[in-house]
Amino acid sequence: MSSALELLVAAFERDNAPLAAPTGAMLADFIADKRLHARFMNTLSMLEHMGSHKIMATQHGLGIDQPTLKHLAEETRHAFFFKRHANREAGRVLEYNAADMVAPLTARRYFQRLEAEMVRAFPAAIHPRAVYLTMSMVIEFRAVWGYRLYQAALVRAGNIVSLKSLLAEENGHLADMAERLAGFGELDRDRLRKFCVIETALYGRLLAAFIETLNYRLAA
Ligand SMILES: [Fe+2]
Ligand SMILES: [Fe+2]
Repeated sequence: MSSALELLVAAFERDNAPLAAPTGAMLADFIADKRLHARFMNTLSMLEHMGSHKIMATQHGLGIDQPTLKHLAEETRHAFFFKRHANREAGRVLEYNAADMVAPLTARRYFQRLEAEMVRAFPAAIHPRAVYLTMSMVIEFRAVWGYRLYQAALVRAGNIVSLKSLLAEENGHLADMAERLAGFGELDRDRLRKFCVIETALYGRLLAAFIETLNYRLAA
């Protein structure tokens, strides 16, 4: 792991420390309610699908390389993984619609706003692959952080879903993105740091929307 990546991970952990306990509690509440947990996993499936579609939409063509194909294949598999578990837990086929997801508008907005904020901030001359790698890397920080907490909550609840291989892949993506960005001379710590701060604010809103759904459910 490059030291730049270690420093970024450390900063991310520091910034997100206040969000760890509420995230862990939110995850435990979802896991405890089978129907809601199925909808939560279906929402994660949609987010993974949005990510894999984004890679396909921006990186397809004859210039695509093996690491990008690997990344695309794995994110596509993550969407499938969560869909499969969501359907199993629900005992029926879930759709990507409001009734079968949790806070779907906020979830979609999280992704779209993050993308819009980052696109606006890139210099015009930057290599398109460096844009893809930077944007992916910012999301990978959240994936690794969030899935680690999710895995711990699943183990505590004795749930059969295991995120171990998924977590290993997200960790691999993070290291891979850092290495490839360094190859472009674009492992820009200040830029990544700034984007992670934006992402953390957007994640805070998504977390609040997830918690709101749980509270509404408990009060109903
Ligand atoms: Fe993923
Ligand atoms: Fe990933």
